Amino acid sequence: MTETIPADRDIHSYARPWDARVTHVALDLTADFAAKTLAGSAVLDVQHAAGAKEIVLDTKGLTIERVTGADGAALKFVLGTADPILGRPLTVELPATGAITVAYRTSPDAAALQWLAPAQTAGKSHPYLYSQGQAILTRTWIPTQDSPGIRQTYDARITVPRELRAVMSAEPLTADGEDAPNGRAFRFRMTHAIPPYLIAIAVGDLAFRSLGPRTGVYAEPAVVGGAASEFADLESMVTAAEALLGPYLWGRYDVLVLPPSFPFGGMENPMVTFATPTILAGDKSLVSLLAHELAHSWSGNLVTNATWSDFWLNEGFTTYVERRIMEAVYGKARADVFRVLGWRDLATEIDRLGGMQSKDTVLHVDLKGRDPDDGATQVPYEKGAALLGLIEQAVGRDKFDVYLKDYFKRHEFQSITTAQFLADIRVHLLTDKSVEAKIRLEDWIFQPAIPVNAVQPKAPQLTAAGEQAAAFARGAGASTLRTKDWSTQEWLYFLQELPSTLPADRLAALDEAFGFSERRNAEVLFEWLRMAIRRHYQPAMPALERFLLSQGRRKFVRPLFEDLMKTDWGKAEAKRIYAAARPGYHAVTTQTLDAIVK
Ligand code: BES
Ligand code: ZN
Repeated sequence: MTETIPADRDIHSYARPWDARVTHVALDLTADFAAKTLAGSAVLDVQHAAGAKEIVLDTKGLTIERVTGADGAALKFVLGTADPILGRPLTVELPATGAITVAYRTSPDAAALQWLAPAQTAGKSHPYLYSQGQAILTRTWIPTQDSPGIRQTYDARITVPRELRAVMSAEPLTADGEDAPNGRAFRFRMTHAIPPYLIAIAVGDLAFRSLGPRTGVYAEPAVVGGAASEFADLESMVTAAEALLGPYLWGRYDVLVLPPSFPFGGMENPMVTFATPTILAGDKSLVSLLAHELAHSWSGNLVTNATWSDFWLNEGFTTYVERRIMEAVYGKARADVFRVLGWRDLATEIDRLGGMQSKDTVLHVDLKGRDPDDGATQVPYEKGAALLGLIEQAVGRDKFDVYLKDYFKRHEFQSITTAQFLADIRVHLLTDKSVEAKIRLEDWIFQPAIPVNAVQPKAPQLTAAGEQAAAFARGAGASTLRTKDWSTQEWLYFLQELPSTLPADRLAALDEAFGFSERRNAEVLFEWLRMAIRRHYQPAMPALERFLLSQGRRKFVRPLFEDLMKTDWGKAEAKRIYAAARPGYHAVTTQTLDAIVK
């Protein structure tokens, strides 16, 4: 057994992969909606060092029934003490040869899983289950080594009630399932080794619509038609991404539209991105989210952050690539709009984090003793993307694009650390030391703040919206503003540009002219509601309550509850609304909000 623990080990996993590592997981699970449990077994293939006597797995809230070897004989195991963030290590005696089988069941409050009652779905007549693994929640439903540096292939057999369908982040082997004694069974297989946070499941009344030769959408029957028109450009996005990044290696690219409690905008589960229904704006205006999740098929899923401190490798590359895909499909002017809005989000986030000197503005973020979720700010996304934009500018786009493609090829199906990225780019792109010095690469990655050499994005398409906001701020009447044909992003920019001192009657004028409180575009409504809370614009409060009760996307509900809690009048409102909304939210969202609405 190795005595030396690698310096770049993942501090968010109990696993000791240098002694013994899981290489394949075979699941056989039954979804019990009454008990809110997944129960069955996980058979783990293990690779181990000579002389290794045990393997350490990650678990959280799992009931372990027994552990057996390939011969069926019981293997000794011990569950260690529970850490509130990491859960409990499960240490299993290694058999002489063969796989180990863990028989187990999940807890009804497993943080990865949300069990929805029929009333929480669009169709209202069937229950629904879905999982969210990133960052360290897979251990709440699968006993395995839950570290992004420990890649595993998987297969699964999932038994569900007869009228439901199961979807997983893997190739389906049984299109419509097969009869099982206690329901219908669906089988899946993922033959590429992936980090365990990408193992995902959804079970519900799901329909499918094809969008192109290898793209399609799953959603409840009432939602799938609208989703199919919204996502009409999906196939061309895949084609554009391939031109930029190299072949798409996962086979199909489908999107599953989840019920509105899904805590994220999107989650890049391989072969099937999970997405919030709040991107169904009716006018394709929020599909950049799909460009983002699609980009993860390379940055994140093909080349994965080895630890959560390297998260910027996933999200910074993805945010950069997302805008390159948008540029290829919709043109540079439109992509620049997203670059400017992202740059603004970064500035706002840095303020929230306490300013430029905050340690959370470091790309390679220090997560000692913290939940990796704490590192999921706009910094890895936007500062990461800004760094890649700067490198692109320094070496020229042609050269950078060659590097990007080769980077994904060199590291495909591998997890890498920030140090490995640095070594790679020094050998393959920044061979001229003076170019690296000009970029100030190490400052960007290891120091707080945004270095002054950042490239500031510009978007002429937003100029008019900025001017109209200024005119309104100077006292122009709302009905005199020129807003014809504005895109969602122009409206967002307009709202962000309005001064923070507008009195309630001016908000009323805007609301009357533009119907903000009644907008169905979730991003525009969100921006409006933030403003309404800050100025205590009472007439928008019913819309606020409706919005908070109708969806649980953390990006929307967190700032709204935070803003409410900052005001005297809002505190009681926040508590009242949260008490009603909380039972409908996913654990990812309630965990964040419980700390805010107290
Ligand atoms: N992988 C992330 C979601 C995530 C991050 C889940 C960290 C758990 C921990 C996903 O790709 C993402 O970034 N989603 C964004 C949308 C995107 C367009 C910025 C979201 O959910 O808002
Ligand atoms: Zn992402």
